Amino acid sequence: MNLSAVRSPGFVQLHHEDRAALREELAAGLLDDRASVSPKFFYDPLGSRLFDAITELREYYPTRTEAAILAAHAPEMARTLGTGRTLVDLGAGNCAKAGRLFAALQPRRYVAVDISVEFLRQALDALQREHPTIDMVGVGLDFSSHLNLPAQAGDGPHTVFYPGSSIGNFMPDKAVDFLIQVRRESQGGNLLIGVDLAKPADVLVPAYDDSLGVTAAFNLNLLNHVNDLLGSDFQVRQWQHVALFNAEASRVEMHLQARVDTTVRWPGGERRFGAGERMHTENSYKYRRADFEAMLRDAGYGTVQCWTDAESRFAVFAAT
Ligand code: AVJ
Repeated sequence: MNLSAVRSPGFVQLHHEDRAALREELAAGLLDDRASVSPKFFYDPLGSRLFDAITELREYYPTRTEAAILAAHAPEMARTLGTGRTLVDLGAGNCAKAGRLFAALQPRRYVAVDISVEFLRQALDALQREHPTIDMVGVGLDFSSHLNLPAQAGDGPHTVFYPGSSIGNFMPDKAVDFLIQVRRESQGGNLLIGVDLAKPADVLVPAYDDSLGVTAAFNLNLLNHVNDLLGSDFQVRQWQHVALFNAEASRVEMHLQARVDTTVRWPGGERRFGAGERMHTENSYKYRRADFEAMLRDAGYGTVQCWTDAESRFAVFAAT
């Protein structure tokens, strides 16, 4: 074997967590009339594992529905998106979803982007051993407020892969702004994106309030993460997980509701919560197919193709 031909992934960490800025952001959210904490604070090491567990819950249909759509239509998606390109995976995590597309998309280069390059290291090393001829780069980047791919991503046009309906965390107008950035950063490339579709509350609510209480643990664990970052004294047992469907806004909302009157203190601040008062932790927008198609066009994409499951629960769009 010619060892010099064996590639190994490159890694770049561009995001450097600014503790002071995070503390300021958290305190500002807690001091708001309607207290809130951004959903990005779910993902400490335990939170990331709890999210993985959520994806295996019977009630949480998005992950397995999307996987089935991708598996069923990958060759057709490849015909639309083209092969031999750079595949940029936003929120790559364990890189498994993208890995399953390699056979169809035959990427020349794979750029895995996640907030911490450390999360990517193991997964990318393993993937590189399975696919020794694909150039691989792991990029540590927080793209939640702004997407700016580094030079290491290489020259476009790129195919951007944004699965999981993570776009649902953005307010709709911010989602369009984000799609505009995606289009610009792909240098005239294409987009493959997973989107959860609007459906009755009796399917949506259990997906975010499951019978085993895994989503409740995921939501409550945010308090521990906030305590770690801010030095606050949230007591998890004083709080209750709430998931509801806001039909007017077409979004599932998650909240943490105080079970008792309580005051939370942290260095430099405090906030009183009355019993029953809620703190908002996540929006997960659910789109109608035509509405999301219109958003892709608003972002500047010309042609949009869509694949869905038999029950129209979830959609995967290819935009070019
Ligand atoms: C990772 C944002 C797609 O909104 O379904 C799962 C996060 N929150 N259960 C979603 C989540 C509660 C998830 N996203």
